Amino acid sequence: MVPATALPIDARSTRNHGSFMEELQNQVGVVTGASSGIGRATALALAAAGTHVVLVARRRDRLEQLATEIDGLGNGARTAIVDTDITASDAADRCIAASAELGAWSLLVNNAGLDGQGASIEDLDLDQVRRLFDANVIVPMRLAQALSASGSGRAIVNVSSINGKTAEEHFADYNASKAALISLTQSMAIDLAPKGIRVNAVCPGYTATEMTASYLADSATRSRIEDAIPLRRVGQAEEIADVIAFLLSGHASYITGEAITVDGGRTAGWVGSA
Ligand SMILES: NC(=O)c1ccc[n+]([C@@H]2O[C@H](COP(=O)([O-])OP(=O)(O)OC[C@H]3O[C@@H](n4cnc5c(N)ncnc54)[C@H](OP(=O)(O)O)[C@@H]3O)[C@@H](O)[C@H]2O)c1
Repeated sequence: MVPATALPIDARSTRNHGSFMEELQNQVGVVTGASSGIGRATALALAAAGTHVVLVARRRDRLEQLATEIDGLGNGARTAIVDTDITASDAADRCIAASAELGAWSLLVNNAGLDGQGASIEDLDLDQVRRLFDANVIVPMRLAQALSASGSGRAIVNVSSINGKTAEEHFADYNASKAALISLTQSMAIDLAPKGIRVNAVCPGYTATEMTASYLADSATRSRIEDAIPLRRVGQAEEIADVIAFLLSGHASYITGEAITVDGGRTAGWVGSA
């Protein structure tokens, strides 16, 4: 082990040994899909660490409730609300304007995403596939462009999926969009590195949110899903949010272009005799 004092100065200079809280405090982050599930948990985790958060989704009432909850933390974290469909032509401009109310925009979480049609590739409606790619791939690209143009960007996390690494039957549209988002994460990491912006992805496995509520409500389906997970349970939104907050923080200062799986071991191999 090389003693820290023997390292060249540039290997040590950017390392901040503070806590998550110190490193995320007074940053300004945009979180898409903040009205429920992983996005909501991420907005709360960032706000708890002192980040000012722009909450983006269509359901304004949900975003207002969350803003009140964040206010209740009493730590000075402020919020701004952008009630929009993320695919709307003015969505990025509204995010830029809202973040400017809070300070210099530095963090972006591209979390909002559409689910697949749940149909064989033979039966996919291609207009719906185009809409899904717009939300899951083009919008994250557009928002990354906006953050980069702001000149104050530090880190981006794109919420992909284990479906971006291994294909699920009858989810070709969703699988392909999440694989594209992993590739896009690598390209963003390379192209935005000169601006000092790190870009990573998280790839959640089954997580208990509105998106999966209908599958998980059926106990037989839930058991089948959980039996295939080495940790024998689905994930909670907060467990994904913690990884997102870590990747945005200076604790991940040398990680960029990575796609981190958070799936209770689901894609590590087989469990049982199957
Ligand atoms: N849950 C899982 O098992 C799982 C696994 C892997 C990956 N993921 C990914 O995780 C991300 C978050 O999903 P989740 O599970 O947290 O689902 P969720 O609870 O259904 O949340 C989805 C969020 O996205 C917002 N949203 C959806 N379409 C939108 C649009 N067109 N414009 C603006 N906002 C939109 C929704 O808000 P409004 O309805 O208010 O607009 C909501 O806040 C997605 O990208 C998903 O693919 C989830």
